[in-house]
Amino acid sequence: MSGTTKVMQNNKRLGETRLDRGSLAVLGKGVDRFEGPLKVSGRATYAYENLRGQDVAYGYIVTAGTGSGTIKRIDTLKAMSLAGVLHVVVDDTAPRASADPNDNKPASIKGAVTHFGQPVCMVVATSFEIAREAASLVEIEIEPSEGKYDLTEEKDEAYDPGDGTMPSTVEKGSFDKAFASAETQLDVTYTTPSQSHSAMEPHAAVAVWEGNDLTLYGCYQLVSTNVPQLAKALGISASHVHLVNPFIGGGFGGKLGIGPESVFAAMAAREIGRPVKVALTRQQVYQGTSRRSDTIQRVRIGATKDGRITAIAHDTITGNTRGDDFFEPAGISTQFLYAGDNRQITHRKADVNILLSSSMRAPGEAVGMLATENAMDEMAEKLGLDPIEFRKRNEPEVDPQEGLPFSSRMLIECMDEGAERFGWEKRPKAPMSRREGEWLIGYGMAAASRKNLLQPSEARVTLQADGHALVETDMTDIGTGTYTILQQITAEMLGLPLGHVAVKLGDSKLPQGPGSGGSWGANSSGSSVYAACEGIAGVIAKKLGVEAGDLTLKDGMATAGNKRTPIAEVLGGEPIEVTGTFKPGKAFQETHQASYGAHFCEVAVNAVTGEARVRRLMTVAAAGRILNEKTATSQCYGGQIFGIGSALTEELIIDPRTGLMVNHDLAEYHVPVNADVPQLEVVLLPERDTAAGLLAGKGIGELAICGVGAAVTNAIYNATGVRVRDYPMTLDKVLAGWAQTKRAA
Ligand code: MOS
Repeated sequence: MSGTTKVMQNNKRLGETRLDRGSLAVLGKGVDRFEGPLKVSGRATYAYENLRGQDVAYGYIVTAGTGSGTIKRIDTLKAMSLAGVLHVVVDDTAPRASADPNDNKPASIKGAVTHFGQPVCMVVATSFEIAREAASLVEIEIEPSEGKYDLTEEKDEAYDPGDGTMPSTVEKGSFDKAFASAETQLDVTYTTPSQSHSAMEPHAAVAVWEGNDLTLYGCYQLVSTNVPQLAKALGISASHVHLVNPFIGGGFGGKLGIGPESVFAAMAAREIGRPVKVALTRQQVYQGTSRRSDTIQRVRIGATKDGRITAIAHDTITGNTRGDDFFEPAGISTQFLYAGDNRQITHRKADVNILLSSSMRAPGEAVGMLATENAMDEMAEKLGLDPIEFRKRNEPEVDPQEGLPFSSRMLIECMDEGAERFGWEKRPKAPMSRREGEWLIGYGMAAASRKNLLQPSEARVTLQADGHALVETDMTDIGTGTYTILQQITAEMLGLPLGHVAVKLGDSKLPQGPGSGGSWGANSSGSSVYAACEGIAGVIAKKLGVEAGDLTLKDGMATAGNKRTPIAEVLGGEPIEVTGTFKPGKAFQETHQASYGAHFCEVAVNAVTGEARVRRLMTVAAAGRILNEKTATSQCYGGQIFGIGSALTEELIIDPRTGLMVNHDLAEYHVPVNADVPQLEVVLLPERDTAAGLLAGKGIGELAICGVGAAVTNAIYNATGVRVRDYPMTLDKVLAGWAQTKRAA
């Protein structure tokens, strides 16, 4: 082997690339995930399934049964006396999930109980059952203190948390003045409840030590940041941590940071000199990892009579535990979605004694747009405009906050395409005007937007002498399709059959990828794979003495002009190995980048019970180049279903007396089931965004969740005449709305 070549590429604007020449046209196609059969047949090894049948011990975490207080005493005597119990890990630096994936200092509890269900210690035994039994024998004495369990009660105490994933305050012009003098005004407040990620795979870890070296089989989204987090929590150097993480059963943000299971597993395994397995129970995942904060969102819009927005404000209050400054950035899309010279977007945080709030699927837009896209609907009605027309009148030429050009923006195309396909012109023009038996029928729409994020990424691609290629990076596939997309990119770039490309992910010994989060994964890691493949083409071109740009790789042949050489001959028995590095560059900073979409929904609401059923749901999305039609569509289905949940059922209920999360499992936390979900439609518009990474694609994972719940509730308003501004829109609220209308009449 001639050693590793390294190539680096910034995302400068590329014109036509090797991908567009499409010699195979395999990129973009909806090919099946090659690891799918492994998953459905149980052969994909998830974290907890490692070291099956080996001499491992099992941990069971003991949690606090009080919402706020100080730990006075932990008595493990009875637990330790049970046959089969090996150890109890008690540590006042007991870990918890970190809100910030870049934060490698998991907060220490130091004897303080900050929320109900907080992990306190862990019993280790020869079987899971014994560990669980012994856990019930651990006595924890907590001196309770008064807790703050209700965001609404604390809202007057909310303060500026400082800048987070977006600035806490964004202003332009003079909102107050412009709003006061606006011809038409809307001033409404929406509330959204706490939500749980509810990934299918509960958090799990298996820890094995060899001397000072830890191997941790885990299920995390961001390998390259999870390693230093883990090292820090254990007080060891990151070079001693090997994280193995090839399959992850969903994350949705709940696995961005490390969880208590991995740190406890590692501490216990070190102590007893034997591998330790820990899985959180479903209840522990709910109560002990993280949640999306509830929000109180005031939206004000001032507009001219003909519907031009002159003033827009979006002020959000969220909650988090003291010392954790993460806030739900609900106003992200309000910064750029609609025009208006006078703008104010603020986020304030109140301290509460409720589970850590952190990133959950499209942190910001997912609940922020429930408010703003309802408000746009309310304002359109006030103005007597069709909601699509109102949005079109406020389409900005450039990013209205910073004045940056949009890299590409197809919001209007998405709305037009959706309106046409959905039959928007047939929508009931007035609320409560269409009825089928005892069902009231309504149509609603909402815009979608999700800021495009890019991260530095590294990947190694090796073209072997036998015409097979291997892609290696510590990037993760959390169920999204990363494996297959990276395979497609490599096959397209090197002109290989798909089956000749192997992909290895989720191992911290591999080059550092961006991890899965913020919908940046596919385009960031894909860009580094692109760079590596372009590097391989460069090496081949050099060997042939031709320009890389003139070289086509296809069917095992390297062709440039009239020169055709078998690639095997060029390689001469030696593999070519190139590490590609991608860094977001100028094109990223000089343009405003986001994906766009539009949702259309038809609901039927029972005129007697107020029960809402989603009948049709269509999302039209534009997110640059689509890398795999099937996985992109699946991501959109997920967003749509998430949206139905946000609109109708999802709500974590916290007991205001004790801080207990009442509905801490899937039986009581209601995510949509098949019967709640109609046939979903997703339309992906063709687009290339050449400023967004080397693939000309933008994030799509989280796009469809943005705004979709508002399309549902706008449809419910259209059906019933009831505006519920307190999510979720359960039937009791619809009935209360009708009762109020009747009383008023
Ligand atoms: Mo996503 S909430 O960034 O995993």
